[in-house]
Amino acid sequence: MTRIDILTLFPNMMNMFFEESIIKRAQKKGLAEVVFHDLHDYSLTRYGSVDDYPYGGSAGMVMAVEPVANCIEKLQQERQYDEVIYTAPDGEMFSQPIANELSLRQNLMVLCGHYKGVDERIREHFVTQEISIGDYVLTGGELAAAVICDAVIRLIPGVIGDEQSALSDSFQDGLVAPPEYTRPPEFRGWKVPEVLLSGNHAKIEQWRYEQAVARTRERRPGLLRDEE
Ligand code: ADE
Repeated sequence: MTRIDILTLFPNMMNMFFEESIIKRAQKKGLAEVVFHDLHDYSLTRYGSVDDYPYGGSAGMVMAVEPVANCIEKLQQERQYDEVIYTAPDGEMFSQPIANELSLRQNLMVLCGHYKGVDERIREHFVTQEISIGDYVLTGGELAAAVICDAVIRLIPGVIGDEQSALSDSFQDGLVAPPEYTRPPEFRGWKVPEVLLSGNHAKIEQWRYEQAVARTRERRPGLLRDEE
């Protein structure tokens, strides 16, 4: 059972995503649990404010240290967390190996960044891992947290029907996936490669491997270089 606690200023933003799909089924089956925490509930002010002006003066607002620290510490009193993840564009680039690693953990906390980000003292004293989902800036870390949850939860055994299918995903062997076909064998004269219809499994595996290598070289040469 993997439990993921998500600390956010917008707990409703992700409802739609988590109320549908494979993630919902994983929760129903008791394989994963995702729990949202509204940082406004941990505000020290009467108005539930969670942000403040940056010291030194610059544009935008900063997530304040107290509500975030209060929320993290309350959760840490209830269970031991393997990682406290912060989503931010300057974090480590998210990848399949990171998803694989996180899927083996039991308790994860994800703090969603907002505005200009969180007071640096949170990053220094609580956060154990910082993750970016790409070199672009989102309005908040919620979509990044949803991406991380999706990539991690689908790897938990039993979550997706066909166990083999998570292992044969793109990136699992450092290669992108080979092309796939289904019936009919010919459509408008466009034929499915002969070898796939041959029933010769060794030949099919060889063909898939060659296609995966060729595609990786063409589309994502960086993946091949990383292996050197
Ligand atoms: N928050 C804003 N942009 C982000 C990104 N690219 N990755 C993770 N969190 C973010």
